[in-house]
Amino acid sequence: MPDREERFRVMLDMVEALVGSAPRVLDLACGTGSITDRLLKRFPGATSTGVDLDPALLAIAEGCFAGDERARFVTADLKDPGWTGLLPHREYDAVLTATALHWLHTEPLAALYGQLGSLVVNGGVFMNADHMIDEGTPRINAAERAHRHAAMDRARAAGALDWADWWALAADDPVLAGPTAERYRIYGEHADGDMPSARWHADTLRAAGFAEARTVWASPSDTLVLAVK
Ligand SMILES: C[S@@+](CC[C@H](N)C(=O)[O-])C[C@H]1O[C@@H](n2cnc3c(N)ncnc32)[C@H](O)[C@@H]1O
Repeated sequence: MPDREERFRVMLDMVEALVGSAPRVLDLACGTGSITDRLLKRFPGATSTGVDLDPALLAIAEGCFAGDERARFVTADLKDPGWTGLLPHREYDAVLTATALHWLHTEPLAALYGQLGSLVVNGGVFMNADHMIDEGTPRINAAERAHRHAAMDRARAAGALDWADWWALAADDPVLAGPTAERYRIYGEHADGDMPSARWHADTLRAAGFAEARTVWASPSDTLVLAVK
């Protein structure tokens, strides 16, 4: 994925700018805890709750952060209306997510944004870095996609693992084989979702009770939207 570290850097710059360097963070759809990892390295006084539904990725996250009291992980389905009840805290200074919410269709995503309104403290932030597509620019979108896929094909030819190869390795791993089989029962290859525009995200976050919302970083393929409560 291009520009991955760049988006995390900007995300954490804006955490620092708006809620300081010792925030209580919710790493939403955390996967292996990528955001939690960057957060705790940069801000040693921060704490994080990672939430996800994938048992294989959560097993990796729990192994990576074992013994670190600052990180906790929770299994929950973000489409389940009761998921916030599984969290160890009622409120967070920052809810952060990357490359994940395009796994949801717009209706459940809008419902999730509605729940975030009451999960973020007043003055707190929500940030989402993800694929956000402007349907009004089809030629730019097609050219960007072809260019990105060509780079991925070159990386694969040079030996990089793609999605399917990575999951095949996990399925062969003695520790991860069980959770990986379970993960395929939950999702299949990949859940189906939508990639609405950055404008849709900002408008929906305002409707959910955030006072301000706008893009704070963008690459040709991805956008980081920040909302302040
Ligand atoms: C591509 S991963 C990104 C993980 C991490 N944020 C990162 O950047 O490395 C997308 C994550 O979204 C999670 N996810 C998708 N739908 C979910 C749902 N309904 N409830 C909880 N997690 C979900 C998946 O399990 C997966 O871990």
